[in-house]
Amino acid sequence: MMERVEKWWRNAVGYQINLKSFFDSNNDGKGDLKGVIDKIPYIKNLGVDFVWLSPFYSSPDYDNGYDVSDFLSVGSDFGSMDDFNNLVEMLHENNIRIIIDLVLNHTSSQHEWFKESKKGEESKYYDYYFWENPKNGGGPPNNWESFFGGSVWTFDEKLEKYYFHSFSKYQPDLNWNNEAVRHEIRNIIDWWVEKGVDGFRIDAATHLKKEDWEYDNSENKWGAFTNVPGLNNYLDELKIAYGKHNLYIVGEAGGINVNEAKYWMEEKEYFNSIFDLDHIYKIGIPGFEKGDISRLKSSLVEWQEKLNDSMSHGIYLENHDTPRSISIFGDETPQCAKALATLLIGLSGTCFVYQGEEIGMTNYNFTKNSELLTEDSKNKYSSLLSRNIPEPVALKIAGRWARDHSRTTMQWDNSINGGFSKTHCLPLLTNSNYQSINVTSQITDKSSILNYYRFLIQLRHEEEILHEGKFVNLDKYSQDIFFFSRETEEGAILFLINLRNFEVSYTPFKEFFLSKYEVISPDTNKVDFTNRRITIDPYEIIILKTNFKND
Ligand code: GLC
Repeated sequence: MMERVEKWWRNAVGYQINLKSFFDSNNDGKGDLKGVIDKIPYIKNLGVDFVWLSPFYSSPDYDNGYDVSDFLSVGSDFGSMDDFNNLVEMLHENNIRIIIDLVLNHTSSQHEWFKESKKGEESKYYDYYFWENPKNGGGPPNNWESFFGGSVWTFDEKLEKYYFHSFSKYQPDLNWNNEAVRHEIRNIIDWWVEKGVDGFRIDAATHLKKEDWEYDNSENKWGAFTNVPGLNNYLDELKIAYGKHNLYIVGEAGGINVNEAKYWMEEKEYFNSIFDLDHIYKIGIPGFEKGDISRLKSSLVEWQEKLNDSMSHGIYLENHDTPRSISIFGDETPQCAKALATLLIGLSGTCFVYQGEEIGMTNYNFTKNSELLTEDSKNKYSSLLSRNIPEPVALKIAGRWARDHSRTTMQWDNSINGGFSKTHCLPLLTNSNYQSINVTSQITDKSSILNYYRFLIQLRHEEEILHEGKFVNLDKYSQDIFFFSRETEEGAILFLINLRNFEVSYTPFKEFFLSKYEVISPDTNKVDFTNRRITIDPYEIIILKTNFKND
């Protein structure tokens, strides 16, 4: 076990691995734990401090493993418990920590608890879930909609009752009101802590508590099960369960604002970081949506400024639930990937690179509906067809922002399946651009996206200012330019990034006309910061360092 150094996660860079699509070591078409072990040299070379491993538990896999059928196991497709132990040990030997996903809001409908629960009120497990009688002559208890589309209620023919699920019907929600459930959760935490993990990503953390079934959700569709009063009691208990181990806890906190997040992190200390979902925001007509760059900027600035004391922002531009950032916020060019990388790694907090982001992997071009594999995109597609939308249009709309984009297989080289698997990867998809976008071709290319990530991660580690430096927004008005610094009393590192694919003529605030500065971004040479007005190329990146004492 690696020493539990206090606050090791401050300023750390994490690498998120979506296990199923990362690397298939035994050529069965599915990524596995040994595949991660094989790639430790790559992860080390990237320079990250830790990995976040997506669910690897036993699961019927209706939701990328987020439908867990046994919390204390390793799914046989992913390997064995020995493989998991080896992975932890080998990562630690390489000075890389590991956090794992904890899915505590629900189980799989194949979990033994649920199977037992379905036997009825006599079962000890009946109250592990939410069961309700039909209403109004057989209908569901209320009209709430689930995150993946359709009702939150599914009828069980045998029991003649409905059970509740915030996500798909294969993911019944656990009843956290029941102390026996919370006891089980504490056991799960202890079990994985014993195995030496360094922290957890708490899935769907804001949804653990539900309103009374009579709650009227017409004002806020998700309000009935998002940050409901009383949730704090559960989080208090969780904090006690993992608090004693000096772990890194990052909560997925859909639906909360920055003030709530600040309170949860800085006062209540429920989480060390929070993933908000606010900055990845889409605009545009269905089927052609793009990421909203102004919102990206305003939201990141707000979170950075408000969390400046604790520097606890969990920063990401991609994860297994988002489309690829260079496709939605940019034009898919390497320069655009580098601009986004600079933003990600320059901000303060703990930042997360998602597999493939470091080589500029792009969205997938769906050509048939069978390529949509996630529950929500499949549901969206069928619901569009039921409204008589023609198939190609439905595919375009359902596919545009689908979670499937980030789940295509990792592009390692230009061999078959992008080097992910020697045999096949079905039903997973491989993006056909693996011939040109892959790890092998970028490793030796000094100017590649991958090597730029390595440069940035190293900079983050080596520059004192990026450890302690507070975030300062240097531009309040531009919709194109992100200009901020990280500052200590000693000096500052300034990041100026053009987030557009057009040239921008720009006048920074007066106080930033620096007479003494050092350019630390590679490939930046022509900007003269003693000039009042500067011209910035599409996706240009300028990183400057200045020392307050000599300036
Ligand atoms: C989280 C996960 C997502 C999953 C959902 C239900 O939002 O990130 O992938 O579908 O929880 O577990």
